[in-house]
Amino acid sequence: MESHLTDQEAALVRESIRSKYSQVAASGPAACFGYPTGEAGVKQQHYPPELIRDFPAAVLASYCGVGNPFSLGPIYAGEAVLDIGCGAGFDTLVAARLAGPGGRAVGLDVTAEMIEKARANAALLAWPNVSFQMGEAEALPFPDHDFDVVISNGVFNLTLDKQKALQEAHRVLKPGGRLQLADMVLVAALPPEQEGKIDNWYQ
Ligand SMILES: C[S@@+](CC[C@H](N)C(=O)[O-])C[C@H]1O[C@@H](n2cnc3c(N)ncnc32)[C@H](O)[C@@H]1O
Repeated sequence: MESHLTDQEAALVRESIRSKYSQVAASGPAACFGYPTGEAGVKQQHYPPELIRDFPAAVLASYCGVGNPFSLGPIYAGEAVLDIGCGAGFDTLVAARLAGPGGRAVGLDVTAEMIEKARANAALLAWPNVSFQMGEAEALPFPDHDFDVVISNGVFNLTLDKQKALQEAHRVLKPGGRLQLADMVLVAALPPEQEGKIDNWYQ
């Protein structure tokens, strides 16, 4: 499942993805995507209102997920959850609430500005069981069997080596751990004028 890009093209895609999401962090997602983001996106994905009742407006506004990883299964109190490609941290904070004071949620993202924004968002709630760090889905900076649940929302479509990213998620999960992944997939061939275009990765 590696992409068929040359090394030069892969470097361009990686840099362009980082550049796009540093722009999203700076200006907010509303102007950057063709699907509902922010509070409208949260509503569309049916996040239970009781889980986000006290989330500050800034946290809601920075959501740019494409689905709801919590709709795929429960997170139990006391669990350790990793959010791969956490963006500004909305899902990481939902996971921290579900895991509770005896559990923990860690958000990881490749874009420094997103991590900065996630930390600023989390500071508004000041929960002790949530943290953020930079890193890549394809090379997770965690030991084997560290998490009960790995969640991700709108990120695996952006990874250049999907097999490696899935292997990494599997590696950091405890035996019997769960992967709850929301993403976009192509359901039909692209129109010929779009096919094979490098900027499909980051537009
Ligand atoms: C569509 S946004 C989703 C953000 C967040 N999950 C949410 O629901 O609001 C995609 C995020 O994935 C991050 N990302 C892209 N490629 C990545 C990779 N290979 N490893 C980790 N994060 C990545 C981007 O920086 C961006 O923050």
